[in-house]
Amino acid sequence: MARFRQRPPRNPSAGRTSKKVKQVCPVPPPKRRRDKPSRSQGGKPAPRSKARTAAVRQTATVMRLNKFLAEAGIASRRKADELITSGVVAVNGRTVTELGVKVDPGKDAVTVSGAPVSIQPRLVYILLNKPKDCITTAADERGRRTVLDLVPHHTRLYPVGRLDRNTTGVLLLTNDGDLAYRLTHPSFRHPRVYRVRLERRIRTSDLAALRRGVVLEDGMTAPCEAEIIDRPENRTIALVIHEGRNRQVRRMFESLGYEVKSLERVAFAGLTVQGLKRGAWRYLEEREIDRLRRITDSPTLRNTRKNSLGKSRTGEDADDLEP
Ligand code: URA
Repeated sequence: MARFRQRPPRNPSAGRTSKKVKQVCPVPPPKRRRDKPSRSQGGKPAPRSKARTAAVRQTATVMRLNKFLAEAGIASRRKADELITSGVVAVNGRTVTELGVKVDPGKDAVTVSGAPVSIQPRLVYILLNKPKDCITTAADERGRRTVLDLVPHHTRLYPVGRLDRNTTGVLLLTNDGDLAYRLTHPSFRHPRVYRVRLERRIRTSDLAALRRGVVLEDGMTAPCEAEIIDRPENRTIALVIHEGRNRQVRRMFESLGYEVKSLERVAFAGLTVQGLKRGAWRYLEEREIDRLRRITDSPTLRNTRKNSLGKSRTGEDADDLEP
């Protein structure tokens, strides 16, 4: 069981995010280089670095046809120019022989000697410290602010799992559908660490009930870790769960008669928002992406236990099944 340290007396001058995360997260956050400016300063993009270049892999939008052909692995740009002038390249069914034509890889159909050519969308991994009053969806019909309004994206990005509108903290956004699927699959029961602030002090017996599992309308919750982290006030709890049902944390506390005043996800699959202010984002580093791939790939780390009612968990992670 992860151990939580007791929260020290509140220091009003302390930075909000990093201190909180440090105290409740059982997984050491990745070390960040100190010599780089952070995107937490107003969400500005980072200066180019090897790590970033590798990890960002952003999709360019409109580009010259010869660059498109080069990126698709057909030929070097110079050779691509030769192909174009020789009349074997077509865009949207029309042969292009002049140089300098631009194409949109997401929209235009390019062929070489009649064979379709495409470039794979590049993979993007963004870690957002989600603020309040922002919904976790790709688009909102009612025009409310979504998490995608807060991050740069030239390609379709999906939030991995869902946080309620007023839940803050760790949210991963990516267009890597495979990794997103693995991270949210019910059989991969990686820890989600939450800081829960209640409207009143919690009873010891209720803490024990949370740890054992409580009955919700969609079944009993699996055993979890729960610690008070603001003694003697006893209103703030660090909770580690391995499930991702819809509004699970709020419903767990509501089932015991508590109102959740604030909810922050401080860690998800080992990712934390250390160093990121609310609303700020950063690209994952290559080694962080590799780690996520490794942990979602390892059969020894996959916990395929059934829940306490003996039912398969498939379909339970309703909040986590986006995309
Ligand atoms: N559990 C909740 O109740 N809400 C969230 O946003 C995440 C987990």
